[in-house]
Amino acid sequence: MYRIGQEEIAEVSKVILSKQLFRVGDPNAGHLQEADRFEQEWAQKIGTKYALIMCGGGTAALVCSLAGMGIGPGDEVIVPAYTWMATATSVLTVGAIPVLAEVDETLGLDPDDLERKISPATKAVIPVHMMGRPANMERIMAVAKKHGIKVLEDSCQMVGGSYKGKRTGSWGDAGAFSFNYYKIISSGGEGGAMVTSDREIFERAFVYHDSGAAFRPKASELNEPIFVAQQYRADEVMAAIARIQMQRLDGIIADLRKVRKAVETGLATIPGLKRTPNNDIEGDCGVVSGLQFENEKQARAFIAASGVGGYLGIDHGKHVYTNWEPLIAKRSMHHPDMNPFNFPKNKGLRANYTADVCPKTLELLRRTFFITINPDATEQEIETLVAKCQNGAKAL
Ligand SMILES: Cc1ncc(COP(=O)(O)O)c(C=O)c1O
Repeated sequence: MYRIGQEEIAEVSKVILSKQLFRVGDPNAGHLQEADRFEQEWAQKIGTKYALIMCGGGTAALVCSLAGMGIGPGDEVIVPAYTWMATATSVLTVGAIPVLAEVDETLGLDPDDLERKISPATKAVIPVHMMGRPANMERIMAVAKKHGIKVLEDSCQMVGGSYKGKRTGSWGDAGAFSFNYYKIISSGGEGGAMVTSDREIFERAFVYHDSGAAFRPKASELNEPIFVAQQYRADEVMAAIARIQMQRLDGIIADLRKVRKAVETGLATIPGLKRTPNNDIEGDCGVVSGLQFENEKQARAFIAASGVGGYLGIDHGKHVYTNWEPLIAKRSMHHPDMNPFNFPKNKGLRANYTADVCPKTLELLRRTFFITINPDATEQEIETLVAKCQNGAKAL
């Protein structure tokens, strides 16, 4: 989250003074309908028919989307080896098995490896737009279509950006966004949303996200049967913050892109520095600027000599599959009989999370450095950053 202030305070105050904090209420009795309004506005912004705001963050949005797609035991879902672990673990939550695939030079899911990894059990793929950088959706959608599998975009780190003129989250059958504190906008520390234009996916996701779905006014509109589910409903305070943050979003991204462009114009003048390829620099959110080195030794030499703020991909902690300890140990759920790795229907599915499964991803992460972009950086600060990179390049 980059910006928050008086506007959020004013909107939250209205909700508190209305004394109606639950998301369902009567507008004639002063209920502000913040969650309903957010969902309509968010769907419109992203370009989908439906949206659901969740208190359970991007993780809940992923889980509800998978549930909406009818993914379950006996199914494999392909996920990139470079993402936050929740992309993979959301698959386990619905009883299916995640299968790891390589990223390409852009650090988005490699469409060629996706195709190689598809098996008769594959039902879906979750491309991830890491750090506001779009995955190659055109090729991923083509592969998915060819093999008849669903696409769930993990756009948790790419909130409001686009790929080839269309917002991410609207390319696949469903999309998941995170509004936790560390994302481009926040609904107050935690929160997220799923989007889809598919009525069946929406209805099942709606039921899955509200343990009281049977008792909501919307229940009478549903074609899908209501099943026993979870509680990921957001409240009015969260939705009020999200609505104001949404109004800030395009401005934040415009500033991020402006600063990133100025930084990259400076970097282009430095011999020896190579930018990380990007699937669509125009749609990219501008959260980071990527540099790709020949090898890890060079990358680390640059980092040490430049002192620039950022991180080497391999140091990105739990975003690297070799650090996904609970998954590697196949520890899922609280009871062994509820662990999808023990389900009879999952017997024989690929469940290999050893360090050697995605060597190309590790190799790329060892030599790809991300400079973090501050949307409020001054010209002077940008000049300093570029000068630091100049010093770093001398060490190559
Ligand atoms: C790529 C990715 N997917 C999923 C999530 C999960 O989002 P949340 O923490 O809001 O549940 C995150 C959050 O860090 C993420 O970065």
